[in-house]
Amino acid sequence: MDKVYVFDTTLRDGEQVPGCQLNTAEKVVIAKELERLGVDIVEAGFPISSPADFMSVQEISKAITEPVICALSRSVRKDIETAAESLKYAKRKRIHTGIGVSDFHIQHKFRSTHDKILEQAIEAVKFAKSLVEDIEFFCEDAGRANLPFLARMVEAVIANGATVINIPDTTGYCLPQDYGGKIRYLFENVKNIHKAIISVHCHNDLGLATANALSGLQNGARQVECTINGIGERAGNTSLEEVVMAIKTHQELGLETAIKTQRISTMSKMVSSMMNMPIQANKAIVGANAFSHSSGIHQDGVLKKRENYEIIDPVDVGIPNNKIVLTARSGRAALKHTFATLGFDLSNDELEIAYQQFLIIADGNKNITDQVLIDLITNLRVNREEFTKV
Ligand code: KIV
Ligand code: ZN
Repeated sequence: MDKVYVFDTTLRDGEQVPGCQLNTAEKVVIAKELERLGVDIVEAGFPISSPADFMSVQEISKAITEPVICALSRSVRKDIETAAESLKYAKRKRIHTGIGVSDFHIQHKFRSTHDKILEQAIEAVKFAKSLVEDIEFFCEDAGRANLPFLARMVEAVIANGATVINIPDTTGYCLPQDYGGKIRYLFENVKNIHKAIISVHCHNDLGLATANALSGLQNGARQVECTINGIGERAGNTSLEEVVMAIKTHQELGLETAIKTQRISTMSKMVSSMMNMPIQANKAIVGANAFSHSSGIHQDGVLKKRENYEIIDPVDVGIPNNKIVLTARSGRAALKHTFATLGFDLSNDELEIAYQQFLIIADGNKNITDQVLIDLITNLRVNREEFTKV
């Protein structure tokens, strides 16, 4: 099995959605949950964009240790310096810099020429490399770029120190075969390509983000950029839960990720609630109806054997099949157990506070749903988040 690195950009591309903005404490709580989920890289923000984003990248860098922490920058010295500064405390750090590479962006966004853009990209990579070892380069609007120029760009930035190359379909334009074909073209035409990991970053404007990402992986890419619940600019990004479960379900692809899939449902509910982004009921993997069966024929079939109508065991994505019903008469043990089934190991003092809050909610609320409990523990953790002074 070949490992696919999971690069989560919920806190950067996902957070660009209007109305989804989070404060630093909320971002730290999500980043800690992403670490538990097993993502390899957390894109924590775009530090030059605002002092708050800078602070979030800095605090996430202090708070989590396993994943690589990544900060976005344009191919501009000041951006790159600020990104490096925000990553000062990260145990494992990456700068993600890049530039538009399509004729469209070169002519109408930068009003520049291919040669000048190439030069700017090389300068940016060299400068970033002088500050941080791990450099990812994004070729913005690669989905609509001229392929020979894209190949020239990829070869040049690898030669100057980029170790991961992101090929974004920024506008969500590509069809799966075309997108996969672009990745294959790069493998066939860039002579130093084996020195870098190729990353897929697909937007969902035509509802093809997951299909395109998978097609890129089938053609040699080994990093996928994605967000929880597929949130992101416009129609969103590849959703983490979809691409991860597609890889797990289709073993014949010969790919695997390090994601602890049983944590997916909780992660999804946490992000939806904190970002004020409801999940559509029929959303694959995490929608309320993703594992419910309503027609008589399907109900009969699934009762005879679950696999008749389900390709994924709900338990594999963290939907427990036996539940304790919580009421105001429930004790601490039942509450602790229910939180554990949702993926939260509560410390004793967290349990005590959570229990007192739970009793107040339970007294006035007949139905204690998973979402109620996830909101309770998330708010509790956000309120107790203390930024460590270094
Ligand atoms: O979609 C895109 O091109 C991006 C880049 C900034 C990586 O999000
Ligand atoms: Zn994007």
